[in-house]
Amino acid sequence: MRGSTIAGIGHYVPERVMKNAELEQYVDTTDEWIVTRTGIRERRIAAPEQASSDLGLEAAKEAMAHAGVTPDDIDLIIVGTATPDMLFPATACILQDRLGARKAGAFDLSAACSSWVYGIAVAHGYVSSGLANTVLVVGAETLSKITNWKDRGTCVLFGDGAGAVVLRPSDAPGLIGSVLGTDGTAAEILIIPAGGSARPATPESVAGREHTIRMPSGRDVFKRAVKEMASACRELLDKSGYEPGDVDLLIPHQANSRIMVAVAERMGIGLDRAVVDVAEIGNTSAASIPIALDRAWRAGRIAPDALVLMTSFGAGLAWGANLLRWTAPAPVS
Ligand code: ACO
Repeated sequence: MRGSTIAGIGHYVPERVMKNAELEQYVDTTDEWIVTRTGIRERRIAAPEQASSDLGLEAAKEAMAHAGVTPDDIDLIIVGTATPDMLFPATACILQDRLGARKAGAFDLSAACSSWVYGIAVAHGYVSSGLANTVLVVGAETLSKITNWKDRGTCVLFGDGAGAVVLRPSDAPGLIGSVLGTDGTAAEILIIPAGGSARPATPESVAGREHTIRMPSGRDVFKRAVKEMASACRELLDKSGYEPGDVDLLIPHQANSRIMVAVAERMGIGLDRAVVDVAEIGNTSAASIPIALDRAWRAGRIAPDALVLMTSFGAGLAWGANLLRWTAPAPVS
């Protein structure tokens, strides 16, 4: 088996900034409550005409330019998203067309906030087995379109954005390994109840806002997120022959600064070695890790050969972790 590595990375967030103060107009909340409980100060909101594919396209173009690959080089496009443009065709197919990636296969991967981490594991399988040479893995979300703007327990959390990487073969191991986990017994704690085949849209489901995110107990989600991300990280380090002390940078799913701090504490990883970058971006679900990874790298926080541990958790419940050596070329100026 050959190795695979991140050869290029990019991200995109929409122009519109929604500060916490604006949310005070919609629900009974305060900037102080949101900052203290989540670390979030503002988030980006897509324009009404912007779909997830529009955000993903910008991120993908940046990642491809960085990797120095053309649309014809792409063998496979994986889009991780909980907010596809439509039920079908897949958002990955829309992206394939807009990129002009004529030779690429394309599919969406649905594991909610963990979709991109799952996508990296899948892409690594394709590249290392020789089934594909160049895989584009995109996390693209427009969560603002499935947010209940009257629910203060959820609407303060989310933002829109996209991140993308190009995975290519490598001699030196870039991607070292992945761990994936699920617990479908707890599906109800984070759910959009209607709009699928179980409960197709009706006037009642629309009136009842059943097409928006429901999270009956944020506290339960919080506890499970910390537990599962920390244990996925430990399992992955163990099976890869590393210790937490070897990790140069931990990038947890950017849901909430308190969750991330708790994961880092459980791992014994100091915050100087963790990325907590939720203040200006909010929780962008599948896009959160590639956005945080790209922002950390562009800020000079990832040295060549750094050991980077990424971990995610979300609806499903589905969680996972990826461990990699950073081998991407220097940023394109
Ligand atoms: N503004 C003001 N008060 C609020 C708000 C708000 N936006 N939201 C909830 N409250 C109130 C509650 O009603 C409750 O009031 P009460 O005590 O009178 O009943 C009080 O604040 C405390 O509520 P809790 O839910 O216990 O507050 P907690 O400290 O757990 O923080 C939060 C809530 C931020 C949602 C937290 O539980 C959390 O982040 N959970 C993880 C959820 C998450 O990230 N979900 C996203 C998808 S999964 C993922 O990405 C990991």
